[in-house]
Order: sequence, then structure tokens, then C-alpha cells
Amino acid sequence: MFRVGIITASDKGSAGQREDLSGPAIRRMVEETGEYQVARYVVLPDDREKLRDTMAAWCDQGLVDLILTTGGTGFAPRDCTPEATMDVCQKLVPGIPEAMRQMSLAITPRAMLSRAAAGIRERTLIVNLPGSPKAVEENLGFILPQLRHGLEILEEKASECARK
Ligand code: MTE
Repeated sequence: MFRVGIITASDKGSAGQREDLSGPAIRRMVEETGEYQVARYVVLPDDREKLRDTMAAWCDQGLVDLILTTGGTGFAPRDCTPEATMDVCQKLVPGIPEAMRQMSLAITPRAMLSRAAAGIRERTLIVNLPGSPKAVEENLGFILPQLRHGLEILEEKASECARK
């Protein structure tokens, strides 16, 4: 089982002014695969330092194999999830957000407005998802089947890609 950390970035959510529906949507989707267990879940404000420190701590302490964030990828002045992610990542993984945006453009042209990033710190993969439960379901539903192979390579559980 891979361990997942979920971070919802939302000023209103962290202040208790809005129920977080996106974090629970991520939990449901990853648990339904039977391959992931949620080890950490937190709702944080759109605060670059708090997001950065939480992601770095989870990675550096080896608490999770995968961090999925939701929210804060758009144009609102306080949106800063991709910046916090890039602050902590040692390697970027641009293909994942590229694929999410390409797939999502067929659903809504507004997909081009997501600045989501992805990358690796130590042995943890971090992926940003947009904020709405609908966007979470669409984006995570698309990438989730491919993540396991990446995580196996990152953790040296698979040494090479099977050629089929
Ligand atoms: N991607 C998909 N698949 N479905 C969506 O509904 N919403 C878009 C985009 N990506 C959306 C999507 C919209 S409207 C915005 S503003 C951006 O994600 C950023 O969302 P965020 O600020 O909540 O992170």
C-alpha cells in the first residue's frame, strides 16, 4: 500500500467557513483503488510558508509516498499552491500537469487557467489538483492509474519499465 497525504489549500476551509468536499473526494478515490491508504489529511490556508513547511515535513520524515493537494492553482491573488510545491521539489514532473490540462481542455477550456505543478522531494511525489470536487474527480481519475508505476520506480520497487 502506498501512503497518501492530502492537503486542501483553502482560506475558507481552514477557517471553518466552508466544508472541504475536495479532500474527502481525493480520499474516496485513492481508497477505492485498494492500493493507497490515507496517512495524513489537513486543510491549510492559502499560505505559501505553511503549505511548503507541511509538504517538506511529510517528505523529509518519510511519512507519505504521494502528496495530493487540491486548490490554490488558479489566479486568485492568494493562490500559491504551485509556488509552495516548486519551493520544496528537488525535481519537477511537468508531464503530469501537462497531461491533466490536455485532458481537461476537452471538458472545459478553463482548464488552461490551472497552474498546477508536480514534482519529487526525496522519495515522495507531489501533485497539485484544482480546487473543485468536479475538477478533482476529472483530473485525479485521469492520472491515478498511471501513478503507481511512477511510485514503484521512485521507491525502487520496479527497476525498469515493462515493454508491452
Ligand atoms: N479541470 C477540470 N478537469 N475540470 C474543471 O472543472 N476547472 C478549472 C481548472 N481546471 C476545472 C479544471 C478552473 S475554472 C480553474 S479556475 C482552475 O482549474 C484552477 O482551479 P483552482 O483555483 O480551484 O485550483
